[in-house]
Amino acid sequence: MSETINSYFNQLVNNLKTIYSDRESESIAFLVIEYVLNYSKFSYSENRSQSFPETKKEILKSIEIRLLNSEPIQYIIGEADFFGLKFKVDNNVLIPRQETEELVQLILTENNAEKLKLLDIGTGSGSIPVSLKKNRNNWDIYATDISSAALIIATENAKENNTEITFLQDDICNSVAFNSDKKFDIIVSNPPYIPRMEIDKMHNNVKNFEPHLALFSPDDNPLIFYQHIAEFSQTHLNKNGTLYVEIHEKFANEVSELFKNKELKNINIINDINEKARIVKATIKSFLSC
Ligand SMILES: C[S@@+](CC[C@H](N)C(=O)[O-])C[C@H]1O[C@@H](n2cnc3c(N)ncnc32)[C@H](O)[C@@H]1O
Repeated sequence: MSETINSYFNQLVNNLKTIYSDRESESIAFLVIEYVLNYSKFSYSENRSQSFPETKKEILKSIEIRLLNSEPIQYIIGEADFFGLKFKVDNNVLIPRQETEELVQLILTENNAEKLKLLDIGTGSGSIPVSLKKNRNNWDIYATDISSAALIIATENAKENNTEITFLQDDICNSVAFNSDKKFDIIVSNPPYIPRMEIDKMHNNVKNFEPHLALFSPDDNPLIFYQHIAEFSQTHLNKNGTLYVEIHEKFANEVSELFKNKELKNINIINDINEKARIVKATIKSFLSC
């Protein structure tokens, strides 16, 4: 008797457990079976006792080999979920993370204005601006990245999700994309923030596959991007505007101190659901001054 879809699923889960946790292995295996057999999860559970199609065995095997070589499932299937939306991804863009969904949620919770101007610096796949625009259709949203390859993917994601975003190539360390009179109500950024010296502690699926341009900051100045984002905010944030940045949990106090030295006010460190410092928020104007 030929083997069932379920037995292929279980075999894949067991093999994946050699490099992933039990929970991760199961959710990756679901994605693979869905992708290979073109099933939704619902029909997987309905069809699990059927025979695994002969014609799909080769593709399943090739995906398994790539997964066991630590390649992220999102790059293999070319897609990642973020904030309830689908984003095209390849190895030119960071795979959008759950922590960053909390940054998007915070901005939506704190900002109900019908209209405002927002800039996302270091947009990668465009996950932040597209998710925001999907929920605040009248906001005027801009996004920049130094990587032209990332901007191509971000533009496709905006189109696929029916959102209009203005994408511009710009280096935040030497920004020329905006005149000094261009102001934003919100500036948001999830910049590269992992010191290069941490590379040996990182999982292979991250360090061997995700773009180093998106991950790493220089060892001798790990906060360099926050420094330039703060300086940019001094001239480009409206006087009632807010800056939101995602941070490395280890650098919450340093980023706050840096922002203070750059004359930013009302600096707040916000923890994520795992109680790790994850976001720093600041404004230009002191709420106490008139
Ligand atoms: C941590 S990733 C964030 C990607 C996306 N915003 C997200 O949250 O998934 C950082 C992004 O910053 C971009 N980047 C790196 N250096 C930059 C620079 N000097 N100026 C602008 N963007 C830069 C990278 O290309 C990458 O897309």
